[in-house]
Amino acid sequence: MNVVGIETSCDETGVAVVQVDAANASAKPRLLAHALHSQVEMHAAFGGVVPELASRDHIRRIVPLTRQVLAQSGLSLAAIDVVAFTRGPGLAGALLVGAGLACSLAAALNRPVLGVHHLEGHLLSPFLSRDAPEFPFVALLVSGGHTQLMRVIDVGRYELLGETIDDAAGEAFDKSAQLLGLGYPGGPALARLAEFGDPNAFSLPRPMLHSPTLDFSFAGLKTAVRTQALKLGANVCEQDRANLAAATQQAIIDVLVHKSLLALRRCGLSRLVVSGGVGANLRLREQLDAACAKRGARVHYPELELCTDNGAMIALAAAMRLQRGLADASTHYAFDVRPRWPLTDISTPRARPETET
Ligand code: KG4
Ligand code: ZN
Repeated sequence: MNVVGIETSCDETGVAVVQVDAANASAKPRLLAHALHSQVEMHAAFGGVVPELASRDHIRRIVPLTRQVLAQSGLSLAAIDVVAFTRGPGLAGALLVGAGLACSLAAALNRPVLGVHHLEGHLLSPFLSRDAPEFPFVALLVSGGHTQLMRVIDVGRYELLGETIDDAAGEAFDKSAQLLGLGYPGGPALARLAEFGDPNAFSLPRPMLHSPTLDFSFAGLKTAVRTQALKLGANVCEQDRANLAAATQQAIIDVLVHKSLLALRRCGLSRLVVSGGVGANLRLREQLDAACAKRGARVHYPELELCTDNGAMIALAAAMRLQRGLADASTHYAFDVRPRWPLTDISTPRARPETET
């Protein structure tokens, strides 16, 4: 079964083709082709994503990108079995572009469509990596909009263990980067600057580190970074900027590592999957690997290029659901999108609160 995946939930236009053996749920999915157009440069001038510009740019890019990916896949149009698209959560206008393209392509080919949950895509994205995990595992989802710990029992069986009560980890990176004059999106830039800094040069809070829950909070950290940045003033030297970047990165990493280990312990599991844009952070990977190795646990990541938004994870999530009979692709092309859509809505059985041990 060949599945096309279309991702347009925010500021990346992503298209991919994934192939799976529909008759064998344990067969490994294969990524035949994928391509991405990032709008980062366009939004950088505004210091953040401008939704209307995002939608218009998706409209410009989506058809050429789809043609390019289909050509790269080596498949004829007739070989496409299903067209999957990100149904939500995300920016309504941006989502509609992907839904529109998916439905038109599917209708023209007389094939079904399937709307996919963006976070399920992130969650399952490590199944396309060389080091794919096995179920069950704990997932740490760390993106620009979400910070969640989930117990993943199988495809479609997700229990929310904890999540951020304010800013997401990616937001903490982005907002701190802005305070350091690093522009948008600041995560990768802050990580690069942090390489030249001393993480112990500033003392920053680790919010909720010792709370008994698996929830996160990053708003206080952002305030502390702002206070330090104001103290340093406009004539801050390069070394101080690098030190503050390193201290900020370390504070975020400390909380993510600590809570991930706590989640593994509470669930009695020894496999952690990290996905979402912040999962591309190399220091986070290093420190999670070391901390998990110490307690006999393994960490699985998507390939670096599939950490941020992409069409491959959308095609993959659709393919894995279809392979297991968990979704019905439809030829009813009245596309609808869900800009707000909790992941637990698509989980069977529905999420139950984690019992403390
Ligand atoms: O998953 P993603 O591409 O989009 C969302 O669904 O939000 O994640 C984007 C987030 C941004 O906040 C970005 O700054 C952050 O991931 N990010 C990083 C790194 N690469 C991307 N944060 C820290 N270090 C990185 N290397
Ligand atoms: Zn994302």
